[in-house]
Amino acid sequence: MDPVNISEFETLARERMSRQAFDYVAGGADDEITLAKNRAAFERITLHPRVLVDVSTVDTSTEVLGQRISFPVLVAPTAFQTLAHPDGELATARATSAAGTIMIVSTLASFRLEDIAAAAPGPKWFQLYCCKERAATQQLVERAETSGYDAICLTVDVSRLGRRERDLRNQFTLPPEVVPRNFEDAANLSAFPQTERRSLLTAYVADLLNDSLTWDDVAWIRSITKLPVVLKGILTCEDARLAADMGVEAIVISNHGGRQLDGVPAGVDVLPEIAAAVGDRVEVLVDGGIRRGTDVVKALALGARGVLLGRPYVWGLAADGQAGVTKVLQMLHDEVELALALCGCPSVEAVSAGLVGRR
Ligand code: FNR
Ligand code: LAC
Repeated sequence: MDPVNISEFETLARERMSRQAFDYVAGGADDEITLAKNRAAFERITLHPRVLVDVSTVDTSTEVLGQRISFPVLVAPTAFQTLAHPDGELATARATSAAGTIMIVSTLASFRLEDIAAAAPGPKWFQLYCCKERAATQQLVERAETSGYDAICLTVDVSRLGRRERDLRNQFTLPPEVVPRNFEDAANLSAFPQTERRSLLTAYVADLLNDSLTWDDVAWIRSITKLPVVLKGILTCEDARLAADMGVEAIVISNHGGRQLDGVPAGVDVLPEIAAAVGDRVEVLVDGGIRRGTDVVKALALGARGVLLGRPYVWGLAADGQAGVTKVLQMLHDEVELALALCGCPSVEAVSAGLVGRR
């Protein structure tokens, strides 16, 4: 039967993917406390709708970094999408483009960023992981700029990889055909076998990524690109203010889908204080645990300009390739439209802080 909601896509994906691959996508760090919090946080927030508002037409569109998008949901960067389906990021790019929103392409994509850009028109951001060598990082940024990406989204919460115990238990490996193709010379992942103490991915990340990154590197990245810079992985007002002081254009409040430091709060729970701390100085996005249209509306009411969607579209991809991603995005779009209507909001601009509570 066709899934009628995102959770049913997860069930389908579980059937279609290997245990190793499913657990890599689904899992979180340590005891998965933060992973669970990402859902619990939305469940605790209540909606307080207004009635007798004309919602015969509802405009779900909004603007992020000056770009009009069909609804306030962006496609989060996720690594190695050919683990879910052979068409991987190419399918996601086509489905996202057709849905009229922004795809954020991971540094660890399983196709080259150029090929993903060429797969479909439409706005795309490049998610940057900084390599140990500045020259390699600079090359990635230049390639993204040349290929027409609209922003650099620097992920700042992976100095090391979080401890994902499902991956350790499953002895997670990437099948030989799943390769981080943005790196010509880093394709040989068999050089990073799992040991008792760390998974293949932990070893690979430790070898590739720079764990000495500081705000100076953010300034450096700003100096080497004309593109707007977005920082993904902010969880405190202090860091949000520093980001604004640096002149970055947007931040993503994120705990990386509960995959990094376990014990941190859900993004949506720190969203109000962070949105208040930065005001209009940077655009604020949030991710983690978005599974329903009502979750999107709650995030908007708490001060976000938009949200990022992670695992759900990967479930769609695993279930049915491009058509599956299209279906997930369509489903969420329709849910957002319905939620806005039932909240008495004919547009995204009509959403205000009074719409949410905790009762
Ligand atoms: C991620 N995420 C991620 N983030 C990033 O900046 N670069 C990356 O390469 C990845 N890779 C990745 C792989 C997989 C399988 C998952 C599930 C997540 C984190 C992602 O962008 C986002 O922050 C979370 O997935 C959002 O939470 P939900 O929507 O999955 O609950
Ligand atoms: C993840 C990475 C690679 O697995 O960002 O979460």
